[in-house]
Amino acid sequence: MLTLCTTGSDCLRAEETVVEAPALEVLSWGLWSPDKCDQCIIPDDAGVLWPEEKMVSIDSLREDSGLGVGCIRLEDLGECDVDVTVENVQAGGHAGTFHVLRENRVAKLSEAFDPTVPEGHQYSAGTEYNFYMQLWCLGALRKAGHFSGTHLLDPFQSAWAPKFYGVCRWVDAAFLVMQNVFAGYKKESQLDLKVGVTVAENEPQKMKWLGQSIGSLLTPTGRDGAKLAGYKVWNRKTSAYETTYSKKLSQLHGLPWVFNTYLGNSSSNPQFEKSVSAFADQLAQMFRWWNRYGTSKIRSIAASLLFVYEGDTAGAEWDGNPVNAPRLYFIDFAHFFPAADKPELGKDYVEQGLASAFREIDRLKPNDVSRLAVDAPGSYKKVCGLADLRASGKNGQCLEKCATPPHNGNNQQIKGISMSMCQNLADDSSYAFFGWRRVPNQRSECRLCNSTVSRKFYTTSEPWLFFKRTKETDSERLANRLDLFNDSATGSEA
Ligand SMILES: Nc1ncnc2c1ncn2[C@@H]1O[C@H](COP(=O)(O)OP(=O)(O)O)[C@@H](O)[C@H]1O
Ligand SMILES: [Mg+2]
Repeated sequence: MLTLCTTGSDCLRAEETVVEAPALEVLSWGLWSPDKCDQCIIPDDAGVLWPEEKMVSIDSLREDSGLGVGCIRLEDLGECDVDVTVENVQAGGHAGTFHVLRENRVAKLSEAFDPTVPEGHQYSAGTEYNFYMQLWCLGALRKAGHFSGTHLLDPFQSAWAPKFYGVCRWVDAAFLVMQNVFAGYKKESQLDLKVGVTVAENEPQKMKWLGQSIGSLLTPTGRDGAKLAGYKVWNRKTSAYETTYSKKLSQLHGLPWVFNTYLGNSSSNPQFEKSVSAFADQLAQMFRWWNRYGTSKIRSIAASLLFVYEGDTAGAEWDGNPVNAPRLYFIDFAHFFPAADKPELGKDYVEQGLASAFREIDRLKPNDVSRLAVDAPGSYKKVCGLADLRASGKNGQCLEKCATPPHNGNNQQIKGISMSMCQNLADDSSYAFFGWRRVPNQRSECRLCNSTVSRKFYTTSEPWLFFKRTKETDSERLANRLDLFNDSATGSEA
């Protein structure tokens, strides 16, 4: 922790060990920058011409004067409003780094302003603060009417990240004050799942110069791109929490185990169906967003998905409260960057992690026809595929296909997603074609493209289903949906 120098001898010692401060890097998010820390910046598409006119002072935007926002000096911070009656709440973090505050808020320790900690810690904490400041400015600029356009970070600001209020001081350390995402739950059941590549255990202090030889510090999260950081599940029978019993052991389990353990089933968990459907919707949104924007514009290492549902519905009802709905958040932004600033980072596998999490949740969905409406938006028409093959033998084969990327720039190949999700992605980015096939004992393949290449003949590999973007009539759309459903119902995806 930072000790403030108050006496002559202390000050001398502090001077001798002075560390080059601070580690807040200028990143090109475009809403706030540490080199103009008392200002928010109105993003470009608001159409303001002169740089100085794009700045709005944070003092004019803030509503809660008790918290530090923008430029932070530890000695100026107000004390955190700690709720001393509540115990520690975290499942997947480091001990003692969170405090529950009053007014449905929590405080997360931030070493961003402490030059005495190892510089890697300071840098990661600074990256997280920098990101939350972007969200703060985005929200404040909007609220004050300075900005009404769209921004890359909109979904984080409005839904995915906990709401950020500012910085407070507790004892001699700074804390980020944010929305307590467990507020309103009687007994929250939570799962912290890391997505994408993560930093090797015990190595985060080496993260200062992310990018330089970073390869050796990143560990793949297996083919799923997602791994357990921790869980805490309320057991109604024993009236006690079950938690990650051993980090090492539970990380060996695959995603099916993780979600089965976390969600149980419809008889063990009254919130099972609601949770599966809410998480599937939210993961589908995140995955589609990442496919369209995130993968090209963001680099995220070791961030988490935080799932929460009400573990004690009976208790909540008995108290006369409405049962809080299940929710999903994106948290832990210590290594979260605009892709343009970190070209060295390479692929971060977040999109793959989101796809894997979505697939696992989707697997738990009751397999009823109502999925049709959600899963198959109808702007594509099947050109050829499985059904044609069956009908006419090899003559029915597709004579065109999306080539393996890279091809003509923006071809994509995504593994392990359902055909309807493949269609969603094609639709989101208005691709002219998409192809999908099941691969036995492997992950299915989805390809998106705007121009096709010809296919000579089918080898022994699994046939592609191939679709073309088209304006359909309502009856065609219905027919295609049923067709899609029949195809996807003919076998289960590997
Ligand atoms: N906004 C929040 N509200 C309530 N609990 C939170 C919040 N953010 C994080 N937590 C809890 O703290 C844990 C660790 O959070 P995280 O931000 O990942 O910290 P760390 O950097 O220590 O890993 C999460 O798994 C969750 O249990
Ligand atoms: Mg974490």
